[in-house]
Order: sequence, then structure tokens, then C-alpha cells
Amino acid sequence: MKTNTINVSAGTPNKKPGRKSKQTTDKDLEMSKNEELEKTIIKPISNISVVPKKKILFVASEATPFIATGGLAEVIGSLSKALAQSTNYDVRVIIPLYSDISWEQRNKFRYLGNIFVPLAWRNQYCGIFSYEENGVIYYFVDNEYYFKRPGCYGYYDDGERFAFFCRSVMEILPFLNFYPDILHCHDWQAALAAVYLKTIYCFRPEYQFIRTLFTIHNIEYQGKYSLDILEDLFGISNNWKYLLEYNRCINLMKAAIECSEKFSTVSPRYAQEIKDPYYAHGLDPIVRRNEFKLVGILNGIDFDSYNPATDQSVFSHYDAENILPKKICKQELQKMFNLPVKTDTPIIAIISRLVAHKGLDLIQTVIEEILRQDVQVIILGKGDSAYENYFSDLSRRYIGKLVTVIAFNPDLSRKIYSGADIFLMPSKSEPCGLSQMIACRYGTIPVVRETGGLFDSIKPVVNGGVGFTFANYNAYDMLYVIREAINCYQDKDYWMELIKRAMSTDFSWRHSADEYEKIYGEMLK
Ligand code: GLC
Repeated sequence: MKTNTINVSAGTPNKKPGRKSKQTTDKDLEMSKNEELEKTIIKPISNISVVPKKKILFVASEATPFIATGGLAEVIGSLSKALAQSTNYDVRVIIPLYSDISWEQRNKFRYLGNIFVPLAWRNQYCGIFSYEENGVIYYFVDNEYYFKRPGCYGYYDDGERFAFFCRSVMEILPFLNFYPDILHCHDWQAALAAVYLKTIYCFRPEYQFIRTLFTIHNIEYQGKYSLDILEDLFGISNNWKYLLEYNRCINLMKAAIECSEKFSTVSPRYAQEIKDPYYAHGLDPIVRRNEFKLVGILNGIDFDSYNPATDQSVFSHYDAENILPKKICKQELQKMFNLPVKTDTPIIAIISRLVAHKGLDLIQTVIEEILRQDVQVIILGKGDSAYENYFSDLSRRYIGKLVTVIAFNPDLSRKIYSGADIFLMPSKSEPCGLSQMIACRYGTIPVVRETGGLFDSIKPVVNGGVGFTFANYNAYDMLYVIREAINCYQDKDYWMELIKRAMSTDFSWRHSADEYEKIYGEMLK
């Protein structure tokens, strides 16, 4: 069908009447007048198709490239960017303005103004900043009392801090005159936005058509608080207690599940798993009861950023067609960590938060047996001090074989992804996991436990997949497949094939962003 587009910014050129250039004849002038006239004629309305963009607002506690403590931030940064590439969406993201957001970035933010936000009997200052990147508009909620602290979480008053943040989100909408079609809240820190909408704001006309999608990135962290702060701190009437109460506590994740039109997790397998008490950290009855509105969509990774052909952090660039420079990455990595430079010794990498659900106790159980083989092991991460101390001590006992770096260091992690051969990720539970996909992108072959997103993304090599997998949470099952991987590594041609296959697997957002679009579409029907 032929359609007309109206370009609102294309005004009439600012020509002074009566001034003619030498070459312009009266006939030319007449013709150009006719053109002008034609432009201003209003075309019949039936011919005009104006499809308004769907407005999506992500509410989250972190987002790359501004502030990140884990996978959540990467998903917020890269999914919003992928959605914004579609002409159907106006995508915006709102996060707190933490003091850890660098001044280099803050200096580019635009101050839009400030409002005061009610939070029970409090009335708190809320500054609003904005910044646009990759077609996504970011908003930052400023309040120094709540957010001028190092890090993002772990404070005694986190409940109040994120209640303020969520209440600010509701109050900022009229200030911006932006009422989203979809309010997409992520994890417990954003849960109260969904709850405030359904308990306080949806009675106001502008808010009544906003639909909510709540995404669980990890069901372990639910936001649990004592019941007596419901009115005094969260400013929610006790009449709504039934929505928030669970096991004699306020449970914010439970409340968001109840209040949202749909809720999702970050892989289809994890969506199944959280109906089971083994994975649900007590929330399985709630998940089962709301199963009819649950979906699981596998995360993607940012293929522009994670690209060994262009990545500024890696020692040498390579791609699936030209894998050889990966050898240089390995050699340089070995030199950097004072490991013997041996091309035939496989490097096993672990890049992870050092917390229990990442399967570190399996590694502890058999690490010395692994180290008895001809391998080198590099561990990068930080987390629980018990694990930090254990792996640091171990590296002092296995100099030249095992290196431990206690840090969250994106630049170093890219050097390790590109220089290693095998990537170990034996999680006890894994909602999605991004590292196994990043490892594949850099041609490092994953060894994973078949759970959550690891199950969905990494199929066993014997079935034509790209990794080595084991099902039971058992250290010796893991050891068995690690040995299998080490054996395969010795067959150079086979391993090259495997690297090629891993690097050619499409873990970009292309497919998953389509899935989100489908869900948004269903919610807006
Ligand atoms: C959480 C999950 C991880 C997931 C990430 C992004 O950090 O633990 O599995 O990949 O969120 O969704």
C-alpha cells in the first residue's frame, strides 16, 4: 500500500521574498512555488499510516556501560540496545545515579530537573538526569542520601533505597510526560515499581494502560523484609498486605510476580526449574500458581562488544575464518601470568563470581586431581571470602600451574576468554549465564553442568553441540567430562573444528529480542 510520511521537522526554507539569484528565471521561481505549495497541501487522511512506537521502560538497578556488578547490567545494556534497533520501539532505561558511575560519564549527562518523591511520611529529593546512547534514552535517579555510597548493594537500608527508586520511577513519568506501554522491571530491586503501579498509581488515568513484565534474573535474591515496615517504609497500605506477604515476611519478588501481567526468566529451562523447590528458594508455590503467565527467554550477548576480531582488550585479533592468532592470545596470557609458555598444554579458565551456586565446591573437591594432569588453570573473580582465600592459597601451592586473580575486571576477563582453551562453569543453578556464550564467541570450549541457561545454550559435542556437559551435581561427573575435554584437545584437527563451531554459534540478541517483542505484543493485545 502506498503511504505518505509526514516529516514534521522539514519546514519551508527560509527564503527572503524578492531576492533572486542571477541564474534563477521567473519560470523556475513559479515551478519552485508550485513545489512548495504541493508540500503544504494536506493529503487525504485515509492515505496516512502512522504507527506510533511502542514505549518500553526498563527499570533496573544496574546497566552497562554505566554501572555493573554482574550479568543483569549486561542484559539491561544489550537487550535495550537490541530492541531500540527495531523501528517499532521507543526504549528507555531508568537506574539509580550511584556515586560509582564515573565522572567522565556523568559529565555527559543532561540535568532535566528535580521533583520530590513521597515515601510513606518522607518527602525526598529526586534529581533526574538523562543520556542517550545507541538509540536508548537512559534516566538516572539522583539522591545522594541513598546512592552516594560505594557499590550498589549490601546496605542495611537497601529496602528503603530501592523503594525510593521505584517510587521515583512512578513520580517521574508525569515529569517526563512519558507513560510507557510496557514497564519492564528486573529483579527484586525493581519489583516495587510493579507493585506501586498496581496499588497506588493505576487509579490515575494516565497510568491505567501501563502493562508490567517482571523478569527474574536470579530467584535466590527476593528482597525480604519484616512485615511491620509495609506502611511506614514502603508507604503501602496494610490493605495490600496479602499481595506482598509470604511466609510471614514482605517478599518483593513474590509481590511483583502477583502484580505483573506476565513474568519471565532468562532461559526456558530455568522457567521450568523454578517450579521445583530445589531451585526456587521457597518461591515454587508462587511460581506454580502463576505459571500461566510465565515465559523463559534465553539471554543473548552483545556481539559488537564481544568480538575477538575487534576487541581492544585481546592480544591479537581473530575470527572463525582465521583462528590462528588465538595462539598468540594464549602465549601472551601465559607470559602475563608467569605460566610456562606451552602451546600443547590446555588452559582451563574460570571467570565467575566466587559464590556457592556457581558450583565452586565441585571444583574444590577435585581441583588437585585436575592439576595432576598437564593443564594450566586461571581463576578470575571475587565474592565470598572463604572461596577467595581458598583459591588464593591454592595458587601459592601450585605456582606455574594455577593462577588466581581476585577481581571483577572486564578487560582481563576478555584476555582470558581469548587466551584460554577450556571454560569451566559447573553451576549448581544458572538462570542463564553469559560467560559460556562469551567463551564460545572467543573460541574457548565450555564445560558446563546441564542446568538453566547452560542447558539451553550449550549442547554436548557428541550431539553436534559446542561443549562438554554433565547432568548430576557431582564432582566426579564433572571431572569425567573435564578429562574428556582434555583428551579431545589433543586431537588438533577435531579441536579446530570445535572452535570454529563454537565461534559460529549465534548467541547474539537477534533471536531473543524477537521473543521479547512477541511477549510485549501479546501483552498489548
Ligand atoms: C544473573 C544470573 C545469570 C544471568 C544474569 C543475566 O546474574 O545469575 O545466570 O545470566 O543474571 O540475566
